[in-house]
Amino acid sequence: MLSQQHSDTQEPREGFASKVGFIFAAAGSAIGLGNIWRFPWLVGAYGGAIFLVIYLAIIILVGITMFMGEVTLGRYAQRSNVGAFKKINKSYAWVGGIGLIAGFMILSFYSVVGGWVIYYFIRAIIGFGITDPILTDQLFGGFISNPILPILFHAVFMALTIWICYNGVKNGIEKYSNIMMPALLVIVVILAIRSMMLPGAAEGLRFYLVPDFTKITSKTILAALGQVFFSLSLGMGSILTYGSYLGKKENIPQASLMVPFMDTLIAFTAGLVIFPAVFSYGFEPSSGPGLTFVTLPAVFSEMPMGNLFGSAFFFLLLLAALTSAISLLEPIIAYMIEEHGWNRKRASLTLGGTIFIIGAFASLSMGPLSGFKIADLVFFDQLDWISNNLLLPIGGMFTALFISWIWGTDNALREVTNDGLLKFDLGNFWANIMLKYVAPALVFIVFLAGLGLF
Ligand code: TRP
Repeated sequence: MLSQQHSDTQEPREGFASKVGFIFAAAGSAIGLGNIWRFPWLVGAYGGAIFLVIYLAIIILVGITMFMGEVTLGRYAQRSNVGAFKKINKSYAWVGGIGLIAGFMILSFYSVVGGWVIYYFIRAIIGFGITDPILTDQLFGGFISNPILPILFHAVFMALTIWICYNGVKNGIEKYSNIMMPALLVIVVILAIRSMMLPGAAEGLRFYLVPDFTKITSKTILAALGQVFFSLSLGMGSILTYGSYLGKKENIPQASLMVPFMDTLIAFTAGLVIFPAVFSYGFEPSSGPGLTFVTLPAVFSEMPMGNLFGSAFFFLLLLAALTSAISLLEPIIAYMIEEHGWNRKRASLTLGGTIFIIGAFASLSMGPLSGFKIADLVFFDQLDWISNNLLLPIGGMFTALFISWIWGTDNALREVTNDGLLKFDLGNFWANIMLKYVAPALVFIVFLAGLGLF
């Protein structure tokens, strides 16, 4: 529908055919490994329900506000990440730049985990047949520490991502986002029911749902903040770039509530799958990035039609991960096309290839290179920690400040209400309170506290 020509670009801008296209694509970006892999891992590592409570609070106080801000800025500017800042004020291009660096780093480890999903998809077809925590642990540990195999699967995942981005937004993103999310939600709900029926499930539910407030630390809050940004795809221009493809008549506030809601629902339900099983089978909840991958094989092994459910689950998770991965690559590609005059082919191949190489080292850091640590973290964990706990919140905070102080809340309000045509009762509160003060201040405080600066 949208295909405006820009004076400074050779290629016409692509756009989504409909608002449903935007919602599905934005939900496709948000829903991914963050919900099924990273969220349960962090809940387990940071003491259970207390993490969940803080996470939900930050979604409401910061996440939704920021999400709406990015969509609004992107649609107004009709540019991708860096270009959007430049269009409003040339001296703030660096805000977008922070996000692009974050995206680069995130995709390089994200694609490695995407490769794990492909491998587990194949294993699930064959059937896992193991419920012993020691054995599922060996399966996972043996695979990710292998010097070759996980890199091959990472290559497949990255090749798929590049291929979709190379074919462009309209034929790519929309087509793959449509059926996948409802299907993923259905299967996660089925798994949650199954998991909650396991013997000893109640203990897992208690861990996940009954908060122990003595466990709050500033590190927990920072990790929750990072996860909000990660899960909602904020702070690096994914949502901003998708916003720029959104039609001028669409309802931004509505779309900005739908997507965080669906995203949170899936993450929450994933916890209902993982934690009852963790406690029932005797896994260690704080076992780190492997938690989902060591727990699920046990669930599928003892479930009626476990092969079918297992393979369907990992297949849907793969699609969800792909729609997220393209939203990480697309802003960087769009930046090179719009700001540096590259064509889509060159941008997809060069950037994707570079990310593949960085990711290969991330994969090796789980095995042959696991001895190289900085601050007790291997390269994979470094990429994850720096991008999610540092770059995304900083990028997001400056984006909020940029929108409200530089671009101005009046302009943002005009855009978000489609020039006043749309009724948005909380508009003023959103722009002048939340975006201008509350969200950036919270991010700043959490950030300093999490780094141990006060
Ligand atoms: N939100 C996605 C997930 O949960 C990952 C993702 C896509 C992302 N685009 C992003 C994370 C931009 C941070 C920034 O799997």
